[in-house]
Amino acid sequence: MTRHFLKDDDISQAEQQEILQLALELKKAPYLVKTFAGPKTVAVIFDKTSTRTRVSFAVGISDLGGYPLIIESQGSQLGVKESIADTAKVLERQVAQIVWRTYAQAGLEEMAQNSKVPVINALSDEYHPCQLLADLLTIQEHKGTLAGLKLAYIGDGNNMASSYLLAGVTAGMHVSIATPVGYSPAESVVARATHIAKTTGGSVSVTNSPKEAVTGVDVVATDTWVSMGQEDEKQKRLNDFSGFTLDSELLQKAKSDAIVLHCLPAYRGYEISADVLDGPQSVIWDEAENRLHVQKALMVWLAERAK
Ligand code: CP
Ligand code: NVA
Repeated sequence: MTRHFLKDDDISQAEQQEILQLALELKKAPYLVKTFAGPKTVAVIFDKTSTRTRVSFAVGISDLGGYPLIIESQGSQLGVKESIADTAKVLERQVAQIVWRTYAQAGLEEMAQNSKVPVINALSDEYHPCQLLADLLTIQEHKGTLAGLKLAYIGDGNNMASSYLLAGVTAGMHVSIATPVGYSPAESVVARATHIAKTTGGSVSVTNSPKEAVTGVDVVATDTWVSMGQEDEKQKRLNDFSGFTLDSELLQKAKSDAIVLHCLPAYRGYEISADVLDGPQSVIWDEAENRLHVQKALMVWLAERAK
């Protein structure tokens, strides 16, 4: 049966490990697997702007012998002029997989329900699961393991916070989220993550204290305070997030060998200080590169299950 990857907990702990192991193999031998030989086409649709996701999917599909068809949704009929369901039925006849960056998670669910080919979430308002695969690979490379590690995320209870919760506990990690009051992650996501943690040995904690979250952790992560689509709230958010900058003083509370993650794009001086982002504990460029390797592994993994 066709599998889709719409949110972090669409895969089990064992499946997550399969994808990460395959990513490590593809990182060593980038051109060995030709899943999309033909070339088969993969549609990569953008309702929002992107640098990393656009480049890493285009390069990854091409590495796998395929053709990346990049579609800017403003130039298509999708959404306003034609339903998501009808779009899915047209695309599934011609492409091997559908990758979509959009706003509402419900749109991705609708696309997947109407598509016989795998649908991949390339970021929605609710989750960024491809980014988390890259983050997990980066942590595994730097720390040698995932299960049992402590990860703190400081900032907005946004799509990245939800994905850290779900992907982190799926991997057996202890995930702490610190947000300002009023910006906590969705309660339903916290509940799902707590449930998964019981089966993997991970744990979840949510606080309004960055210092409490960061103390003694192995990994510290943050993300922009103003996500795509929230530009009108910028000034209010900058005020509300005062005190939540990941700077060297806060980072000192983590373990001395803690690593720092940021999905990028980063806003130095706001959610993260320049000296931390560009400092010795930051592994952000590895993290950005790993988008390529994990997404290739994900596409190969989904293609094998869609046969
Ligand atoms: N991290 C990430 O998804 O970056 P882009 O928005 O540039 O794709
Ligand atoms: N939370 C950010 C992530 C960007 C990659 C956003 O949704 O804009």
